[in-house]
Amino acid sequence: MLSTAFQYRCLLTLLQQSTCRARHSLSVSQKHVSRLASSSSSNLTRHLVNSKNLIEKHTVVSTNHLSPSIKLRLITPECPLWYSGTDDCPFNEPYWAFYWPGGQALTRFILDHPDMFRGKSLLDVGCGCGASAIAGAMVGARTVLANDIDPVAIDAVRLNMLLNNVTLETSSENLIGHHYTNLDVVLLGDMFYDKDFSNMLNDWLKELAARGTTILVGDPGRVYLRDHPIRSKLLKLMDYELLEQCKRENNGLSNGYVWQFQSNE
Ligand SMILES: C[S@@+](CC[C@H](N)C(=O)[O-])C[C@H]1O[C@@H](n2cnc3c(N)ncnc32)[C@H](O)[C@@H]1O
Repeated sequence: MLSTAFQYRCLLTLLQQSTCRARHSLSVSQKHVSRLASSSSSNLTRHLVNSKNLIEKHTVVSTNHLSPSIKLRLITPECPLWYSGTDDCPFNEPYWAFYWPGGQALTRFILDHPDMFRGKSLLDVGCGCGASAIAGAMVGARTVLANDIDPVAIDAVRLNMLLNNVTLETSSENLIGHHYTNLDVVLLGDMFYDKDFSNMLNDWLKELAARGTTILVGDPGRVYLRDHPIRSKLLKLMDYELLEQCKRENNGLSNGYVWQFQSNE
């Protein structure tokens, strides 16, 4: 079975049923914040332990991707969950359990260009499994904040940090729109999957770029980047061919591109 029913369904959910993605994202974030606020510390500890156990139970450590020096806990064809339906999945939309082609290209780029990141402050927005953030730490970034509104993604990132002997800061807040004044680099791996969300990112990225932040986008040619006005502000830095398995799993995508957002200033 080349394209897992499970992953394909996740992909379809992401690409076709995501017209309310930004609102959904926010509501997930709000639900998470409320849940944390109402949790006693023992409940919170139990949540983290359960989540860690579930992640370890349902994933395997994989290096079968464009950045094999980074070990990642992922749902792969070796995992029963790969073949099961979403009803049997104990996670809510586990995007963190897949290493997206745009993220793979961006991470490869970081590992290949350590001088661009050494000593810098990095924010990986929508970090998923955390690969790009981990690469940033590996090449000597001064600080790295791995951000994803899915709290389970953050637990997965913490497991992946340990696997790769790096330390990262993590946050599950919705940081899009935050007025950063001293951030060196923002990383966005495969985040252009919805029109409204792309518009929102575009506004924020313009502001960040005007303040001197370098913005790097990894994308495999998704329509909401390719056909969005933001495309005219992007300079292509690199083109990576995806591994065969990744091509098959992503239904026709063949390459991952790394773009830099150009400030008008
Ligand atoms: C397609 S996945 C990409 C993951 C990773 N960057 C990669 O390339 O493998 C998109 C990720 O963005 C996260 N996400 C969605 N909206 C977000 C938001 N407003 N802030 C932070 N993360 C968000 C999702 O939970 C998901 O993990």
